[in-house]
Amino acid sequence: MAGKGRQHYSSAPRRKTASSTLVLYGLILLSLLIVIVLAFGILSSSTNSKHKAHDLSVIAHDSLHGRDGDEESKDQWVEVISWEPRASIFHHFLSKEECEYLISIAQPHMEKSTVVDSETGKSRDSRVRTSYGTFLARGRDKVVQRIEKRIADFTFLPVEHGEGLQVLHYEPGQKYEHHYDYFLDEYNTQNGGQRIATVLMYLSDVEEGGETVFPAAKGNFSSVPYWNELSECGKEGLSVRPKMGDALLFWSMKPDATLDSSSLHGGCPVIKGNKWSSTKWIRVHEYKA
Ligand SMILES: *[C@@H]1O[C@H](CO)[C@@H](O)[C@H](O)[C@H]1NC(C)=O
Repeated sequence: MAGKGRQHYSSAPRRKTASSTLVLYGLILLSLLIVIVLAFGILSSSTNSKHKAHDLSVIAHDSLHGRDGDEESKDQWVEVISWEPRASIFHHFLSKEECEYLISIAQPHMEKSTVVDSETGKSRDSRVRTSYGTFLARGRDKVVQRIEKRIADFTFLPVEHGEGLQVLHYEPGQKYEHHYDYFLDEYNTQNGGQRIATVLMYLSDVEEGGETVFPAAKGNFSSVPYWNELSECGKEGLSVRPKMGDALLFWSMKPDATLDSSSLHGGCPVIKGNKWSSTKWIRVHEYKA
C-alpha cells in the first residue's frame, strides 16, 4: 500500500512536470512564431512604404481605382502624388456650382497678375507671370467661408492663417514660370510669417496645357498614367492636369520647418481652352486680413 502510494505520489508529479514542460515548449514555440510573423509584417510594410515614397507609378493604380465608375457619383478622395515635395490631390473638392460662383464674383475685378520682387519684396509686373487675377477677401460671404473651412479641415491649418483666395485666369499662351511660393525677403513675412502650404483649386478643365508642374519633384515623372496627354512643359516634371473641382495641396516647408526647394512649381502655358484656378496660400502664423 505504502509502496503503491509512493509510486502514485512519485509518478503523478512527474507526469504533471512532463505535461507542463510540453505546454511551456508549446508556448515558447507559439511566441517565437508570433515574433517572426510580426517582424516579417513590420519589415515588409516598411519596405512597402519606402517603395511608395518615390514610386509615382502608384498614381496609376490609385487613379484607376478612383475613376472606376465615378462618372457621375462625384465621390471625394485624396491621392498622395509625391513625398518630395509633399503633395496630394483632393478630388472633387469643390462642386461645379462653387467653381462657377468663384469665377462669377472674381470676373469683374480681374487685373494683370504681379510677382513679388525678392529684393524689394514689392509686387511688380513680370513676363514670367502673364495671367490675370484678383483677391477675394477672407470670409467675404457664406460660400467662401464654407470653402475656407473645408481647406482648413483638409490641411489642418486654421482659417486665420490663410491669405484671401486668389482667383486666376489664364488664356491660351498665358503661364506662370517655375517659382517658389515661400518668400526670400523680410518684408512679406512680417504678417503671418512664411508661407507653409498652398492649396490650388482648379475651377475649370483645360483642353490642352495649363498643367501645374513640379520640375524638382523626386520620382519617375513619366510613370504617371496620363504622361502621353501632357504638354511639352508638363513633361518637365511631375505634372497635375487641371480638372474642375480638384484641389492640389503642396507644402513649401518640410516637417522640420525648413524651406522645401523641391516645392518649385509652375503653371504651364495654356494651349487650348481657358484655365481658371483659385489659390489659397497659408502662413505659419495668423495672417491679419
Ligand atoms: C520611368 O517610367 C517609365 C514608364 O513606366 C518606364 O518606361 C521607364 O523605364 C522608367 N524610368 C526609370 C529610370 O525607371
